[in-house]
Amino acid sequence: MEKKKIIVAITGASGSIYAKILLQKLEGLKNQLTDVGVIMSDNAKDVWTYELDDETYKNFSFKFYDKNDFMAPFASGSAKFDTMIIVPCSMGTMARIAGGISNDLITRAADVILKERRKLILVARDTPLNLIHINNMKTITEAGGIVCPAVPSFYSKPKTIEEVAATVVDRVLDLSGFKTDSYQWGEEEA
Ligand SMILES: Cc1cc2nc3c(=O)[nH]c(=O)nc-3n(C[C@H](O)[C@H](O)[C@H](O)COP(=O)(O)O)c2cc1C
Repeated sequence: MEKKKIIVAITGASGSIYAKILLQKLEGLKNQLTDVGVIMSDNAKDVWTYELDDETYKNFSFKFYDKNDFMAPFASGSAKFDTMIIVPCSMGTMARIAGGISNDLITRAADVILKERRKLILVARDTPLNLIHINNMKTITEAGGIVCPAVPSFYSKPKTIEEVAATVVDRVLDLSGFKTDSYQWGEEEA
C-alpha cells in the first residue's frame, strides 16, 4: 500500500473530540503515512478548549501550520498531498469551500485538493440543516468532495463517549483508505 500524505483541518464546529481521536489514531498509523499537516482555525482552538477542557492539540507530534500560512506545501497542488480531512467541519468553512473562497490555508488547501481531483472529506457538523447548508453539501459533492456528517453509529454497541465518537472517526479513516482493525458490520465478534 502506498504511504499517504494527508492534511487534517480542524474548524470551530462542535465535536473537537472527533479531531482529537483522529489525531490519536493517526499517531498509531504512522507506518501508513509519510506526511501529516494539521491546520486549526481560531474558533477550533476555542471550541476544543471549551468542550474538552484541555489544550492537548499542542501535544501531538504532527506539524501544525498557521491558518494564514499560504507558504505551506499543500497550498499548492505540486506538493501532491492525496487526502484532506476537515474534522469537525463548520457550516462556515463548508460554505467558503463551496463558494471557492480560499481566504485561509484551510479553504485554500481544500480548493487545491478538489482542483487536483484528490480526496476531500468534510466531517460536517450542525443540526438541523438549512437549505444553504444542503446546497453547499450538494455543490461540494458535485465537485468531487465527500460529505461525511458527524453522525455516530450504534451497531457496534459503543459504551463510552470516546467509543461513540470513534464510530465516526473509523468511518473517516476507512474512507481515507487506511488499513485499520475497526468494527465492520457482519464480521464475527472476537
Ligand atoms: C461552542 C461552539 C460550538 C459551535 N458549534 C458549531 C457547529 O456545530 N457547527 C457550526 O457550523 N458552527 C458552530 N459554531 C460556530 C462556529 O465556530 C463559527 O461559525 C465560526 O465562524 C466557524 O469558523 P471556522 O470554520 O473558521 O472555524 C460553534 C461555536 C461555538 C463557540
